[in-house]
Amino acid sequence: MNKNIYILPVSATFRDIHYPDPIIRNPKDLESKVKTKFPSFKMGKSLSASDKVKVFEGTIDKQKVVVKHTENTEPKLPVDYLIMNESHDAEVRVLKRLATEQHIRVPQLIENMDKITTLVMEDLRVDGFVNLSQLILKKNINMKSAKHIGSSLAHLIQISREWEEFKTNESAQLSFYERSLEMLLAYPNDLKRHKKLESQFTQYAQEKEEQDKKPRHFVWPDSHPKNMLINKNGEVTFLDFGRCHWGDQNYMLPNFLAHIVLYSLTKHIPKSKAIKYAEVCIKAYKDIEPIEDEGIFAQYLAMELFHSANGRFVEGITKKEHKISAQSLGLAILDGNIKSIKKLIQLIKKAK
Ligand SMILES: Nc1ncnc2c1ncn2[C@@H]1O[C@H](COP(=O)(O)OP(=O)(O)O)[C@@H](O)[C@H]1O
Ligand SMILES: [Mg+2]
Repeated sequence: MNKNIYILPVSATFRDIHYPDPIIRNPKDLESKVKTKFPSFKMGKSLSASDKVKVFEGTIDKQKVVVKHTENTEPKLPVDYLIMNESHDAEVRVLKRLATEQHIRVPQLIENMDKITTLVMEDLRVDGFVNLSQLILKKNINMKSAKHIGSSLAHLIQISREWEEFKTNESAQLSFYERSLEMLLAYPNDLKRHKKLESQFTQYAQEKEEQDKKPRHFVWPDSHPKNMLINKNGEVTFLDFGRCHWGDQNYMLPNFLAHIVLYSLTKHIPKSKAIKYAEVCIKAYKDIEPIEDEGIFAQYLAMELFHSANGRFVEGITKKEHKISAQSLGLAILDGNIKSIKKLIQLIKKAK
């Protein structure tokens, strides 16, 4: 059980900390290390935007593969924190657990080179999978994916609910801190609502006897279009599980849909299509898993809008109009104290 609930003191970032040297210094180094296991390995181009997690395409005996290497992500600002390369272990564990599931597809692991926190996996593009974010940015969302993503997220929840808690790199508290900061800045005086949402997100019981009422489950908080690949039929593959935690599983669907809403504000998806997409996705999800608190759903979605407007970099969210409209919709949701998905959709329809 991960009891490490506290955020690293931000002052630590100012101290002259010497973090361990990287395990792998450059792509050539990675290639030669993978070659020790697979002599015919050839590395191709990079698939990742991040500088610390390095994802490359490549081949082994002409078979296309993807290689993902994880280093520590060091804090650069006082509000940042260290993300340990141990996220590799969590990712491998999740990929192994989901490998044989009928209703969820994840990349098949070919080799876990855990000494160099590197995994070799199948290249899903061979089977016609394309990154959903790239499709959206080309204004070419596949509407058939709505149903598949809704039901796969619900299946992920159901399946992982049975899992015994294992060590993850991050706690729900840390994850909430990162994701909610911009919302907190928008409402500095509304600590009560903030604390309530934190307690929901983390499912952290202050009192021991409350723990049964707040069971924590597996959460994949990076459930966004960049981490989903879809094929022509709209079937989906989920990726990138390193930053998972134990907390409230209800976060995953509104987090995903916040991106669909965001891309409707930027006009990458026409508004009417985005609404339809969200409705189909929610229905497919609800056919498997209930949404018990639609007010929380709305708050999670708003939280992600604030975060995407002012915190995390989201591809395609570049102009000031994009940020303002995401922020404005976030404010409208929280000011309106929205308690139902129906009302939420009405607000989204009106948003500009
Ligand atoms: N097995 C795979 N097959 C095809 N593409 C992949 C595969 N794994 C990752 N990718 C691509 O590489 C990108 C980065 O991989 P990801 O695991 O999300 O790392 P990160 O986001 O931490 O850089 C993904 O957005 C996806 O487009
Ligand atoms: Mg990713």
